Amino acid sequence: MDTVLSGIRSTGHLHLGNYFGALRNFVRIQDEYKCFFFIADLHSLTTHPHPDDFHASVKTILAEYLAAGLDPEKSAIYIQSDVPEISELYVLLNMIAYVGELERTVTFKEKVRQNPNNVNAGLLTYPVLMASDILAHRAQRVPVGKDQEQHLELARVFARRFNNMYGEEIFPEPRNLVFQGGAVKVPGLDGSGKMGKSNGNGVYLYDDEKTITKKVMKAVTDSGPTEPNSPMPEVIQNLFTLMKLVSDQSTVDYFTEKWNDCSIRYGDLKKQLAADICKVTLPIKEKIDAIYNDDAYLSKVVASGRERARESAGATLSLVRKAVGFKSF
Ligand code: TRP
Repeated sequence: MDTVLSGIRSTGHLHLGNYFGALRNFVRIQDEYKCFFFIADLHSLTTHPHPDDFHASVKTILAEYLAAGLDPEKSAIYIQSDVPEISELYVLLNMIAYVGELERTVTFKEKVRQNPNNVNAGLLTYPVLMASDILAHRAQRVPVGKDQEQHLELARVFARRFNNMYGEEIFPEPRNLVFQGGAVKVPGLDGSGKMGKSNGNGVYLYDDEKTITKKVMKAVTDSGPTEPNSPMPEVIQNLFTLMKLVSDQSTVDYFTEKWNDCSIRYGDLKKQLAADICKVTLPIKEKIDAIYNDDAYLSKVVASGRERARESAGATLSLVRKAVGFKSF
């Protein structure tokens, strides 16, 4: 059985993009693969979050992961900083990672552009830490979107380089895991691009009915079709894309027809869309609230995740230490 691994940084809340693009599929594959799902709190430090909010952010994402259906009985669900083996591997992989290849990473260059006053070394070695997450469990499959493909490629480079350097096949080269039906791109409500944490164009699993309705009713539209069967502009297509994810086929058909005969009223479409989003997310929100407030449960989940992750990473690290030449006195 192959090992699958995925991590998420501990900032903000999970949105519909996270849910339909990734989480919903993670829930499905828990019986098919040996799964590791973790919260990348060390990665979050590259952008200096405030210590006062740090724990609450981790707890938020953890509760949301669990509420969405990740099952701690089936998968190892853990906090990255709870597993010191990952940091140890990170030190060792830093010795075989070249500054040049890290500087050429698109995400790094973007961060430098966005934030020229905070170009810390952790930002540069972000892909090394991510490779450590993956290689610590010798994971074969890592589901990532376009924006993380270059990081996954670097994990393969480091795996190969380490194996060659020490003459041992310790690390498999991790490959992307593309889910059935291909990648789902969830558009944002602002009419352009995909739903994202930083763009403020998202609906969160955590949002209540009022918030969701307000956000959807404010979604960007145009002035409406003027000719029957005209092609849809992107902003309208985006609303239909969301609708296809949450609504019945008959609802989608109904509004498609209304578009085609120019009788569509965006207010009606949005009201329906908001209601159908709520049908998906409100049951999850209810679970988020319950789990977030159940400290005893959360601490049990975290402890069992930590144990499983440390056992797996510990086995890898003893092979790695030996390959590198460390010996006990
Ligand atoms: N860099 C990933 C992101 O921003 C999060 C992440 C950290 C990750 N470590 C990982 C994803 C390991 C997959 C595997 O989305």
